[in-house]
Amino acid sequence: MKYAFSFLAVIALILIAWLGSLIPGMQYFFGVAVPYLAVLVFLGGFIYRVVQWGKSPVPFSIQTTCGQAKSLDMFKHDKLESPETTAQVVGRMALEVLLFRSLFRNTKSEFYDGPKITYESSKWLWLFALMFHYSFLVVIIRHMRLFLNPVPKLIGYLDWTDSMFEIGTPAMYMTTAGLLIGVLFLFGRRLFNRHVRYLSLANDYFPLVLIFAIAATGGLMRHFLRGGIDIVAIKELAVGLVTFHPTISTDIGSIFYIHLFLVCSLLVYFPFSKLMHLGGVFLSPTRIMKNNSRAVRHINPWNPDIKPHAYAAYEDEFREFMVSAGIPVEKELPPQEEAADEEAPEKQEA
Ligand code: HEM
Repeated sequence: MKYAFSFLAVIALILIAWLGSLIPGMQYFFGVAVPYLAVLVFLGGFIYRVVQWGKSPVPFSIQTTCGQAKSLDMFKHDKLESPETTAQVVGRMALEVLLFRSLFRNTKSEFYDGPKITYESSKWLWLFALMFHYSFLVVIIRHMRLFLNPVPKLIGYLDWTDSMFEIGTPAMYMTTAGLLIGVLFLFGRRLFNRHVRYLSLANDYFPLVLIFAIAATGGLMRHFLRGGIDIVAIKELAVGLVTFHPTISTDIGSIFYIHLFLVCSLLVYFPFSKLMHLGGVFLSPTRIMKNNSRAVRHINPWNPDIKPHAYAAYEDEFREFMVSAGIPVEKELPPQEEAADEEAPEKQEA
């Protein structure tokens, strides 16, 4: 039912934008005020989250690795799995961010009679996740043609390459299809894989439904409701928004306001959601730290006055409490203390 809530929330957003855009005078609110507000919340929220993460102390080297660390020369060092230098960390991060390397190792577990459990390689998630993210990126870069005047040549080339199969008029972009197929796979995986469904929350379904609705309304505008929008007025508004002179000269069409309002909702939701993995991946100590703890002694940098506290000193400090709690100790209490300790409960009872 958690996905039903996500559908209802997105339907509510669509209704707000659709009905709102029909009210005379509200076009300025949906076309100008809401986008500016959404961008402010997005930037403010994004920066706030990154600063909070940046301020969290990480005094020790806590990377997660899955390969041989740099050690004696007779052991082959796995430079990507267990990076020891900054360059190696950059290599590991580049493969992670550009090719989702850790997801490539995704496995599927199954129970069989016996009982037996097996783990098999499962590359589908990796493949569709890659398709989804790259399509999303290209769609956003391509949209820059609406905001920039003149349109940079590079965006023109990207546009041409993306629509080179010339399916339909206007030609369908491969990345529109890639985005829709990718998001449908990710949603279907949450719905039909019982392990993932058990773990999924409304916060997992909502962004997928929202992104699907954004891509679907975009596709509708381009391929089915072309007559319902004024693309020249949209370009005028988009350029006006980035140059801080926004104008809405004519009736642009409700479907555009719906598309834009959904995008704004995504922007507002983004910094407070799991989508922040976009920024978080670059700030994740388990990924961005070097595994050099065999070569470098990591000393707590934000409290250099901290005194060493060996186990023997710790036991001296807490021995009495440990004995009374039944925790084994290396050095027993002196006899008189033990006797006093035994009396204590009687006194308490009295
Ligand atoms: C998260 C951001 C956005 C996503 C994922 C997105 C997605 C899409 C998709 C998938 C399409 C179908 C055609 C294509 O792929 O270009 C589309 C079309 C469109 N989008 Fe967006 N969009 C976003 C932001 C915006 C914004 C901010 C505007 C406001 C100017 C906008 C205006 C349009 C217009 C006018 C079309 C129709 C373009 C055409 O007919 O060629 N989109 N969008």
